[in-house]
Amino acid sequence: MLSKNEILSLLKTKEIPKDLLEEAYKVRKYYSGRYVFFRALIEISNICQKACFYCGVNRENKNLKRYYINLETLKKIFEKVKNLKYTSVAIQSGEIISKKHFEFLKKIVTLAKSKYNFEITLSLGELPKKILKDLFSLGARRYLLRFEVATPKRYYLYHYKDNLHSYENRIKTLYTLKEIGYQVGTGFLVGLPFDNPLNLYKDIRLIQKLKPDMIGIGPYIPQKYTKLFNLLEKGVKILNEKDRFFLNIKLIAIFRILLKTPNIVASTALITLGTKFFPLEEVLNFAFKAGANVIMPVFTPSKEKKLYALYENKYFSEHEKFYDGTLKASFIPVLERYGNPISYYIRNFK
Ligand code: 5AD
Repeated sequence: MLSKNEILSLLKTKEIPKDLLEEAYKVRKYYSGRYVFFRALIEISNICQKACFYCGVNRENKNLKRYYINLETLKKIFEKVKNLKYTSVAIQSGEIISKKHFEFLKKIVTLAKSKYNFEITLSLGELPKKILKDLFSLGARRYLLRFEVATPKRYYLYHYKDNLHSYENRIKTLYTLKEIGYQVGTGFLVGLPFDNPLNLYKDIRLIQKLKPDMIGIGPYIPQKYTKLFNLLEKGVKILNEKDRFFLNIKLIAIFRILLKTPNIVASTALITLGTKFFPLEEVLNFAFKAGANVIMPVFTPSKEKKLYALYENKYFSEHEKFYDGTLKASFIPVLERYGNPISYYIRNFK
């Protein structure tokens, strides 16, 4: 177990002690061997009502063409991933509150469950309780909603303070999701401007408090058409790319040791930064050894995929690359199982 002081001193230095990685790998191997769960990620729309200061699909970005995938396209993607033997799909979009959107969501969850029997993860922002409940009753079982920043004071450094950007509502939604019965995934951005070890420690504490079934953290990567980019232009400093990459790896190891059983994703942002310095299989090897056990190849059609521009030069996550990369990293891709986290089994089969 890691004490507060141990965690803080780990966060204050750039080195990753060998014994931290060894310990994390031991825990990882004990609970999940060398397995890596694959989820097919489909980004159904880049329309978003929010205006987060770090995010490229913020509603104020008028340079971005917006898309919304139709049912026919989605059916083709479902067929494709089914043929590749995927059993787990993740549906993501910007935050859209509209009746039409909700009806479409209900339709696609029904289709994914009744026709394909996929295990469904949703990542659609802070939707009202009623629709979250409806989607659960139609068969969705997992929900990803990063809290992004752990304390209200810091949350409003990167978000407006209004009805649409409420720290309180974000945290409340996480508890609502749990209450409905979803496996909940959450996490935060690593290496934002104004970040420091003490803040990061608070992010870790909130993860410990929420005890999520899934953890998704990713390094912050600047995007041109965002408020934060202007700050960087004015000279506000952030950690360099390599340091942000290794800080993220270190955090994965810390979470594997602290929480042991949740699924932890090797995020696209992590892979985007890592592959600037190392070949993909090395990046995956770092992430999986530190404790990550989930990866999400993207199946959004290529034209739309380019428009899901959360940040610059997003890694073009493809199934074949991730599959080969995982094997080359000496880990085992798993597609034909739902890949529930151990925490889920512990909760349900006591
Ligand atoms: N860099 C890295 N990750 C980002 N996200 C949004 N903008 C950025 C960025 N500039 C992440 C957020 C969100 C997820 C979908 O993408 O954490 O939850």
